[in-house]
Amino acid sequence: MAGTERIDSKLPGVGTTIFSTMTALAQECGAINLSQGFPDFDPPAALVSALGEAARAGHNQYPPLAGLPRLRALLADQLQRYRGVTVDPEQELTVVPGATEGLYCAITAVVRPGDEVIVLDPVYDSYEPAVTLAGGRTVHVPLTPGDFAIDWERVAAAITPRTRLLMLNTPHNPCGSTVSREDLDTLASLAERHGFLVCSDEVYEHLVFDGAAHHSVLQHPALRERSFAHYSFGKTFSVTGWKTGYCVAPPALTAELRKVHQFVAFVAVSPVQHAIAAFLEAHPEYPGTLAAAYQARRDRFLGLLADSRFRFRPAAGAYFQLLDYGALSDEPDTVLCERWTREHGVASVPVSVFQQAPPAGQTLLRFCFAKSDDVLEEAARRLCAI
Ligand SMILES: Cc1ncc(COP(=O)(O)O)c(C=O)c1O
Repeated sequence: MAGTERIDSKLPGVGTTIFSTMTALAQECGAINLSQGFPDFDPPAALVSALGEAARAGHNQYPPLAGLPRLRALLADQLQRYRGVTVDPEQELTVVPGATEGLYCAITAVVRPGDEVIVLDPVYDSYEPAVTLAGGRTVHVPLTPGDFAIDWERVAAAITPRTRLLMLNTPHNPCGSTVSREDLDTLASLAERHGFLVCSDEVYEHLVFDGAAHHSVLQHPALRERSFAHYSFGKTFSVTGWKTGYCVAPPALTAELRKVHQFVAFVAVSPVQHAIAAFLEAHPEYPGTLAAAYQARRDRFLGLLADSRFRFRPAAGAYFQLLDYGALSDEPDTVLCERWTREHGVASVPVSVFQQAPPAGQTLLRFCFAKSDDVLEEAARRLCAI
C-alpha cells in the first residue's frame, strides 16, 4: 500500500499473538492444539438454546451502555454468593464485550502519558499494548521462578512516584498460579502508601483447585476502593467466541471506564447478555461446579504424563499446565515448541514470550487442558513418546 513506509507504528514491537500463531501452525500440521485457551467441548445446552431464543425474541438492538439491568443484578447476586461481596450493579458493574475490552478501557481510562504500570512477568499479552497506547510505560517485575509467587520486595523496589497502576492476574495465565490473602494484604499496603490503582484480571476466578479459594481484590476492603476487577463469561461458560464479560470497580472508577467503553464498543452484544441472564437465573450454581470438573481434567492429563520425562507442579488454577522439558532438551522454548508441533503433533505455547527477560535456562511450555478426554489422552501419549 502506498505510503505505509511513512507510518510510524504506535506498537512497533507487536506482532500476531502467540495464540493465533500456534493455532495456525497446529492447523497446518494437523497437530493437537493445546496452545490456545479455549475449551473443545460444548457449552451448557441450555445456554446455547437461550441465545437462539433471545435472538428470536427480538433482542437484537443496542442494549444499555452498562449492560442489561437484569444481567447486572444477577451478576451482583453471583458476587454475593461466591465472594460474599456487595456490589451496586447500577454504579459499579459494567458488562463489556470481553474481558480484553474491559481491561483496555480500564487501562486507558486511568493511565496518562509518562505513567508507569507494574506488570508481573510472565504477563498476559494484552496489557502492555493498552498501556503503550495510553502513553504509559510498563515496568516488568518477574515472578519467582518455580512457584511463580509474587516477589513483593522486587515489586516495592519497582515503585516510583510515576507508578499509576499494577496489573494483577489470578488465577494466572500462563503459570496457573494463584495469589493468597497475604499477597492481597501486601499489595493493599503498597497501593495505599504509594497511591496507585490496581487492575485485577480474574477471568479464571472459578477455576481454583485442590479445595483452595479464589482471593479477589473485591473481598479486600482497601483494594476494593482502588481496583478494577475483570471477569469473562467466555471462560466461565465455555463460550470464548461470545466475547462477553464484566468489570467491577468503585463508582468513580466505573464512571471513567464507561466513558472509554462508550467510544470503544459502546455496548456488549445484546442476545448474549439475555442468554447469560436466562441461564444464570435458572442455574446460579453452575459456576461453582467448574473447579471440580477442570481439576479432574488437570489430574487426568497429569496422571497420563506421570511416566513422561516432563517435570511439573500441578496448576493451582486456570486451565493451563506448565511442563518443564529440561530433562529432554536445552533448546529455547520458542524453537522447541514449533519443532514439537511439527514433529510430535502437539501444539503448546512457549512461556518466554510472556516475559521481558526470560530467566536463563528456563525450559517451560504451557499446555491448555480444557480439552475432552480423548484429546488429552492422545496428546499425553504423544508427549510421553518424546
Ligand atoms: C488472563 C486472561 N485475561 C483475559 C482474557 C481475555 O478474555 P476475553 O476473551 O473475555 O476477552 C484471557 C483469555 O485467554 C486471559 O487468559
